[in-house]
Amino acid sequence: MKKRIAVLLSGRGSNFEAIADSVAAGRIPNAELAVLISNRENAPGIDKARQRGLKAVVIPSKGRQREDYDREVVGLLQAKKIDLVCLAGFMRLLSPYFVDQFRNRILNIHPALLPSFPGLEAQKQALEWGVKVSGCSVHFVDENLDAGPILVQAVVPVYDNDTEEALSARILREEHRIYTEAINIVLSGQWRLQGRRVLRTE
Ligand code: GRF
Repeated sequence: MKKRIAVLLSGRGSNFEAIADSVAAGRIPNAELAVLISNRENAPGIDKARQRGLKAVVIPSKGRQREDYDREVVGLLQAKKIDLVCLAGFMRLLSPYFVDQFRNRILNIHPALLPSFPGLEAQKQALEWGVKVSGCSVHFVDENLDAGPILVQAVVPVYDNDTEEALSARILREEHRIYTEAINIVLSGQWRLQGRRVLRTE
């Protein structure tokens, strides 16, 4: 049986596209993208999904209580028999209820080397701090912001003449690569947790 992936997003959707490309090209074997969910109705990622013939569902979150919203999303994910939830620019913290229903089956990508620069505008935070390298991290999602065990990270240089846009673009290329890598690790089942550490098993 193919593993069923759901992508949750709020915006542009370039990580969604990278995942969809990887699934289509067989770089994520034995998996299918079952649904895309957006909490914002004007997210460009929605059209990108529909153009690919993928089911895109908008569940607006504005003004809704966190757990009440999450129960609706989880209901849809369960109805669609989702194995793995990939947050890709999904701009909401998940409730403990959501995390519990999909414990160690929710991934997020963050545009910094966690635990540095969690939260919004991570690339800007990195530039302003003056770090000489930054990058991106794919991690399991827990109840805290950008805090769960890390699966894969990639490092990029920060140059003296960098702008936030230039650094973001350099990081984004790596994001697209490592999200696929992290999904493959999780779906292979060949990993275990030792404390916070995600260790590979054969
Ligand atoms: C990415 O930088 C990701 O790391 C962050 O939000 C951004 C989403 O971009 N969580 P996109 O919608 O995947 O293009």
